[in-house]
Amino acid sequence: MRVPDISVEVAGLALANPLMPAAGPLTSSPKAAERIAATGVGAIVAKTISVAAAEVPHPNIARLPYGLLNCELWSEDPPERWFSEYLPAFKALGRPLIVSLGYKPDEVRELIPKAEPFADAFELSTHYVGTDPRPLYEIAKAAKETTEKPVFIKLSPHVPNIEEFARAAEEGGADGLVAINSLGPGLAIDIRRRKPLLGGEHGYGWLSGPAIKPIALRAVYDVSRTVEIPVIGVGGIASAEDVVEFFMAGASAVQILSAAILEGVKVFSEILKELPNLLSELGVESLRDLVGVVHG
Ligand SMILES: Cc1cc2nc3c(=O)[nH]c(=O)nc-3n(C[C@H](O)[C@H](O)[C@H](O)COP(=O)(O)O)c2cc1C
Repeated sequence: MRVPDISVEVAGLALANPLMPAAGPLTSSPKAAERIAATGVGAIVAKTISVAAAEVPHPNIARLPYGLLNCELWSEDPPERWFSEYLPAFKALGRPLIVSLGYKPDEVRELIPKAEPFADAFELSTHYVGTDPRPLYEIAKAAKETTEKPVFIKLSPHVPNIEEFARAAEEGGADGLVAINSLGPGLAIDIRRRKPLLGGEHGYGWLSGPAIKPIALRAVYDVSRTVEIPVIGVGGIASAEDVVEFFMAGASAVQILSAAILEGVKVFSEILKELPNLLSELGVESLRDLVGVVHG
């Protein structure tokens, strides 16, 4: 049998392989992104940019036995720095670049034209929406009125009915979905200091890593059965087996963050090495053949 094909296509983006870093600290500066590109990932997703630099409590990341808890927001660097310095350097890495933006329709209308020269696609975070799916329709529509490039809407898991949110994004014109963002909020306490592990008013943070993998898989399964547009899976992925599981649930590409923080960025190169072997073992010629196979 030939070496299995791990190239994928998602919303018109042709990727040499399905792996990308999820929006976060792995891609919050050109130097960080350069380390990720060197692992061989198929695309880069930049840290979320908004209309002003975020002010983030400290400490903002805690390691737990089953994942990470974080209270990072969007980028702590001003958007002007992203447009004049960071995004040109990200583009020079020579990988498809997905620029993550937030959070309101007007903000996205303002940010997209500035990022457009560097972006191959956009990913819009909807982390701070409430229980109404309407804002997802509106943000997708605003973005599609501003750019012809593919627009992905990233879904958060703390919504009452994720399928409705997925449908709202699709009806607004989104070209794809990313599922899921971190889960919570949650709390972890340092019993010796008698304080939360994280800074901020209550010490709340968002859970990611192995603990959320079953929830992310279920979300990918549910939304990919609901909409026609492709889904990028994210949440707790740490191995080639996990990648295959997400494809079987309905993902067309995947993102990784916590595993690369917990185990180092080598997780990307290790998965890229292992994935063709695993597909051979499973008798699969192309990763694309696995998308949604458990849907029945
Ligand atoms: C420290 C940290 C920072 C993050 N920052 C962002 C962000 O800026 N924008 C965003 O859309 N998601 C952000 N996320 C969520 C991740 O992109 C991802 O959706 C989530 O962590 C689940 O994937 P994982 O289990 O592989 O980490 C962040 C997650 C962590 C742990």
